[in-house]
Amino acid sequence: MKNIILIVLMILSTYFHVFAKEGMWIPMFLQQLNSEDMQANGMKISAEDIYSINHSSLKDAIVHFGGGCTAEIVSNKGLVLTNHHCGYSSIQKHSSVEHDYLTDGFWSKTMAEELTNPGLTAKILTNMQDVTDEVLDGVSVSMNEQDREAIIALNIESIKKNHDDSKFHKVDVKAFYYGNQYIMMEYMVFHDVRLVGAPPSNIGKFGGDTDNWMWPRHTGDFSVFRLYANSNNEPADISNDNIPYQPRQALKISLKGVEEGDFTFIFGYPGRTQEYIPASQVKYITEVQNPFKINLRRQKLDIMKAGMDTDKNIRIQYSSKYAGVANGWKKWIGENKGIARNNAINKKKDFENKFLFWAVENDEPSKDALPQQDTLIMQMEPYNMAYTYFVEAAYYHDLTRFSHGFNNLIEASKDENISDEEFKKRIEDTKKGIASFYKDYNKDIDKNLFTTSLKAYYTFPYKNIKLPEFFSLISKKYKNSVEKYADMIYKKSIFTNQQNLINFITKASRTKIKKLEKDPLLIYSTGVFNYFFNEIRPELNKFQLVKDSLQRVYMAGIIKFRVGEKIYPDANSTLRIAYGKVEGFEPRDGIEYTYFTTLKGIMAKENPDIYDYVVEPKLKNLYINKDYGQYADKDGSMHVCFIGSNHTTGGNSGSPALDANGNLIGINFDRNWEGTMSDLNYDPSQCRNIMLDIRYCLFIIDKFAEDHRLIEEMQFVN
Ligand code: ARG
Ligand code: GLU
Repeated sequence: MKNIILIVLMILSTYFHVFAKEGMWIPMFLQQLNSEDMQANGMKISAEDIYSINHSSLKDAIVHFGGGCTAEIVSNKGLVLTNHHCGYSSIQKHSSVEHDYLTDGFWSKTMAEELTNPGLTAKILTNMQDVTDEVLDGVSVSMNEQDREAIIALNIESIKKNHDDSKFHKVDVKAFYYGNQYIMMEYMVFHDVRLVGAPPSNIGKFGGDTDNWMWPRHTGDFSVFRLYANSNNEPADISNDNIPYQPRQALKISLKGVEEGDFTFIFGYPGRTQEYIPASQVKYITEVQNPFKINLRRQKLDIMKAGMDTDKNIRIQYSSKYAGVANGWKKWIGENKGIARNNAINKKKDFENKFLFWAVENDEPSKDALPQQDTLIMQMEPYNMAYTYFVEAAYYHDLTRFSHGFNNLIEASKDENISDEEFKKRIEDTKKGIASFYKDYNKDIDKNLFTTSLKAYYTFPYKNIKLPEFFSLISKKYKNSVEKYADMIYKKSIFTNQQNLINFITKASRTKIKKLEKDPLLIYSTGVFNYFFNEIRPELNKFQLVKDSLQRVYMAGIIKFRVGEKIYPDANSTLRIAYGKVEGFEPRDGIEYTYFTTLKGIMAKENPDIYDYVVEPKLKNLYINKDYGQYADKDGSMHVCFIGSNHTTGGNSGSPALDANGNLIGINFDRNWEGTMSDLNYDPSQCRNIMLDIRYCLFIIDKFAEDHRLIEEMQFVN
């Protein structure tokens, strides 16, 4: 399996001058694979300026934020920019009806006012190293998949042991190209990440879920955080003694603005793409899995929205949850449309036909791996869907998940190794958990969501696999009425009433805690969870192991078949570079989208009666007075967002958009509706990433929030 290195060399020797656009490239191989192409397309810096292990480079300013987003350091005092939607749950946690930071925004005026966020972490990559040989040491081609996995796991463990893998320094070994290559990543992990500022939602989330995943866009999607370190400038637990982290490099900011055709790149942490899976799998995803998820989420959204529209408190309670459900829902709709419109399944099939012809002719191992995958995907469907039903219909429900968590307390009460003292502490922690859970809980809405989800679950169409136990309970005892079953649970369960639960926990002795085991909701949540983990997951894992090995062989085949082409690995939450240009697109015949939007467009969308389109009076005044300061474009207007052909996905939110000189020009936050299929199939004519113009972000901080101390920390270039 050293052949990946050979392949990289092969790619080098047959270098093509086609502007890539598609691709998320590994920083470590930029020099070999991409920098020449990047420079030919306008980049003025070197691969070494972007990623270097010897000196400081741009990578030192790139942050993996909270596990699911990207952020960038913009000052020597650890100031970090990310998206508003990436900071959303932190902002939400600090919000109440009295201090509604979601609605009003939050601006700390001194460092002392910056807010800590327990549980929020931020990672910075310090090193990256190819460890394919070490990981595959002892693995042979003839070996069965279980043995292979076991050896790989041991090898990875020993690599981690040889490096400092701890709370503040994480070592990660990740598979690339489906296990044809392995790379070790080392990170500093910050645990003291403070909220510095956030615009009001009608700026940071302007257009809300209506405009989400769409162009033209006017969302000021940013928030500001700061990394804190101990006095040795090392990551540490949250503490008053901590001081702002001093980075090896902070991004410099360009106020020049962008023009169509300008070279750009995005440096961040794309989460997951599946560009190389078989057509049959794309068909399964778009024709079986997505429709179920889309349909159920739509119903959940209607329920939440009805509540949020009538009550201010419910709006705060459910805003973050709603956004989470809505985001996937809308993305999958766009994905399905794009795949259909692009005829992507047939295009993939055409490719597969050519591929198979070549593989058979050359007797490649991949000649069997493709047809075998097709069969497997069919066999897996009931199990895959059991998983999807479990996640979307059973477990993606607040009270279900919450009640299930109480099993830990019950276990602890029976565990002799846990002292009474320790147990008391757990009770106190549980009480805190209860308070924070019920802050965002509304019984009617929760029950409605439960009933609706369970109704969807109850129609599970694959009868040849084992079903969860509550199915027969509903059919026998409740005569097929999911409603009656739900009524019973919401009437009897202690979890539907915060005060009763608190009273019980406070009074119950250690031996009485296990009474909770009789609670109907806990019986349900534990039952459905155990059903999934005991009945479905083991089967799914067996299939998955075979699937992985077939995909690995197929991937190696693709690389060999497409000799001379540069092939990027699918996204896997590791640091990547995507590059392209500032450019508009043509969504339909006769329609052309320009590459930027302005404040004028915000005013055109303004509607005081619609929550998503309310404009702050202060912003309006700035607009009327054209008070844009140094942030105005040379055309005199205030630019808000722009688009480009950089290949991005979920996780790239908050990623810096950089210009030819590596200066910060924007913050990535979304993709266009027409292009959301890019996780499965990238089309350079339709796929665009959406970025916030950095000048709008700074204008809001400077002119709107008047938090000048932040502006003074940053470094600008002309
Ligand atoms: N669509 C963007 C992304 O995938 C923005 C999400 C913000 N959430 C929302 N529901 N508006 O994450
Ligand atoms: N909004 C996405 C995120 O949270 C980025 C948009 C995309 O999926 O490309 O990462």
